[in-house]
Amino acid sequence: MVPSQVKQNFEVSADRANPIRDMFNAVAPRYDFLNRLLSAGCDKYWRKIAVDELEPVANRVFLDVATGTADIALELASRDASPSSIIGIDFSTTMLQLGKNKVTARNMQSYVRLFPGTAENLPLKNDVFDGAISAFGARNFSDLNHGIREIYRVLKPRGKIVILEFSFPQNGFLQWLYRHYFWEILPVMGRWISGHKNAYSYLPDSVEGFPKGEAFSAILKENGFDSVNFKELTFGITTIYTGFKHA
Ligand SMILES: C[S@@+](CC[C@H](N)C(=O)[O-])C[C@H]1O[C@@H](n2cnc3c(N)ncnc32)[C@H](O)[C@@H]1O
Repeated sequence: MVPSQVKQNFEVSADRANPIRDMFNAVAPRYDFLNRLLSAGCDKYWRKIAVDELEPVANRVFLDVATGTADIALELASRDASPSSIIGIDFSTTMLQLGKNKVTARNMQSYVRLFPGTAENLPLKNDVFDGAISAFGARNFSDLNHGIREIYRVLKPRGKIVILEFSFPQNGFLQWLYRHYFWEILPVMGRWISGHKNAYSYLPDSVEGFPKGEAFSAILKENGFDSVNFKELTFGITTIYTGFKHA
C-alpha cells in the first residue's frame, strides 16, 4: 500500500539521460563497501550523529532524500522500540533495490519504504513530514535551491531539516593532508574497486564545488528555513546543517 504522504499516480520522469544517476547505478554494488573502506568506518558515525539531530521518537514521520542504500533510513528505524515511519527517495533504481534488500533482511519493511523519485520534484504531498534528512545527497542535486525548496514544501510547519555533507578541515596541515588523500589516493582506490572510471574523481570535485559552512547555511535561510545552524565533525571532514520550517 502506498503511504498517505506519497502522491498517488505519481509519474517518475526518470528516463531522461542523467549521467549522475547512471554513475550511482554503476557504483551501487560496491557503494557500501567503499564507503566503509574510504572513510575508515567514519561514515557510520557521521550518519548516527546526523540521525540524532532528528531526535527520532515513536510515531513520527521522516523523509530520507537521496536515500541510496538506505543506511540513514535504517538507522532512523532502529532508534525506538516502536519505530517512526520513514520514506526514502532516490533516483537510482539500483541503489534503491540494494536498499530494499537491506530493509527486508532486517525485517523493517513496515517502517521503511523506499520510492523512486528526484529530489527536485519529490513525489510527496505538502506539509507531511516531522523531519527530513539528506546524507551526502545534496551536493549531487542538479538544482540545489530547488531541492531544498522541495524539502521545505513537504515538511510540516516547524519540521526539521538535517543535511550531512562533506566539507574540508580548516586546519592548514590537516587540510593539505586530507586534500592529498581526497584527490590522489581515494580516486585511485575508488576506480580500482568500483570499476567506474570517474565516480571517485567526481566525489572530490563535487565536494569542492558545494557551498560550505555559512555559505550553505545562507542557502537554507534563503529557501525559508530559520534557526539554521551547522557543526563540523571529524576536524571538518563533514558538516551537519540543521534548520526549521516556519510555523
Ligand atoms: C553519495 S550517495 C548517498 C546515499 C545515502 N544517503 C548515504 O548516506 O549513503 C548519493 C545518492 O543520491 C542519489 N541522488 C543524487 N542526486 C539525486 C537527485 N537529484 N534526486 C534523487 N536522488 C539523487 C544517488 O542516486 C545516490 O543514491
